[in-house]
Amino acid sequence: MNKTSVAHQQAGLTPEQQEQIVAAAQILHAGGTVAFPTETVYGLGADVSNPSAIHKIYRIKHRPADHPLIVHISAISDLHHWARAIPESAWKLAQHFWPGPLTLILSRSPHIPDCVTGGQDTVGLRMPAHPIALALLRALGPEKALAAPSANRFGRISPTAAAHVQQELGTEVDMILDGGTCQVGLESTILSFHDEIPQILRPGGITPAAIEAVLHSPVLLAHNRPQTIRASGTLPAHYAPATPLRIYPAAELWQHASILAEQDLRILVITWSASGQSQPVLSKSIEQFVMPSDPIAYGQQLYARLRQFDQAAFDYLLIEVPPDHPNWLAITDRLQRASYH
Ligand code: TXA
Ligand code: MG
Repeated sequence: MNKTSVAHQQAGLTPEQQEQIVAAAQILHAGGTVAFPTETVYGLGADVSNPSAIHKIYRIKHRPADHPLIVHISAISDLHHWARAIPESAWKLAQHFWPGPLTLILSRSPHIPDCVTGGQDTVGLRMPAHPIALALLRALGPEKALAAPSANRFGRISPTAAAHVQQELGTEVDMILDGGTCQVGLESTILSFHDEIPQILRPGGITPAAIEAVLHSPVLLAHNRPQTIRASGTLPAHYAPATPLRIYPAAELWQHASILAEQDLRILVITWSASGQSQPVLSKSIEQFVMPSDPIAYGQQLYARLRQFDQAAFDYLLIEVPPDHPNWLAITDRLQRASYH
């Protein structure tokens, strides 16, 4: 069966999308890069088994070479090919959550080149849920996979729409597949099996409680993990807008805003709760934006909003602290990194 007929079997995609997927697969086979949608954020993909293509990703992102990439696969059974010594609990989680926003860190197989893992003996693997991502992976063929970090410059906000990739990396990637707005909007949960007890290296759409419910055992949350395991999403400053961002409780937001406004600065106050909103706007250099009070909707919008706010030339973004609840963990984590200074 040729590549075209494989792609044509993908249900739910328009003929135009199917043609683009065939073209994208050809680019990837030839060692090029393709940005593609996933349910979390857009990825910048290259053929895992082609080190020169992988190096292009690092160059385009300005990403240090020792920061490993996530490998995207189209079937749970592909785990055998890319990882070894896979614990039973990892299989269980893959069965339960894939395709979906969970990355499993496992011992890598010899099929994973050094450049994908930054020389580490582990590899991050994930089966994405977006139909275009899955169709692209299937069009690549058996024993192929896509190494793909988020399709943004190192340290900046991940893209949740094709236009974001176009604006930031448009002249450097060989092709961008447009799959609309990402449904989750925040990067995958990363779970490491490096130690006996699985450890969450990066919170995401899948909560610790959801993982524990499948495993019937606890997982650890790596808050103050030593930086010997290099996960860029765990650096203190990451996912950052260009405009300085500060996080305050509802009760303090407006006071800080008015102090800054007195210095002739333009401030955007970003709230989610009724108490955050109830304060009167004290100065015309202070504007307010209300985010959803539901974590799923908040997470979906967050990155696109930060990009939008960045373009509006505010001097400061003052953001209301999210609720202290496990469902808000990924949002709190990203805001803390975005506010690190
Ligand atoms: O949702 C996602 O995970 C998106 C989409 C495109 O799949 N990808 C993504 O990739 O966020 P990236 O490269 O922006 O973030 C991947 C994170 C980095 O913090 C990286 O260091 C970590 O995963 N990572 C990858 N392999 C690892 C490994 N073997 N050990 C520890 N951390 C690893
Ligand atoms: Mg990233």
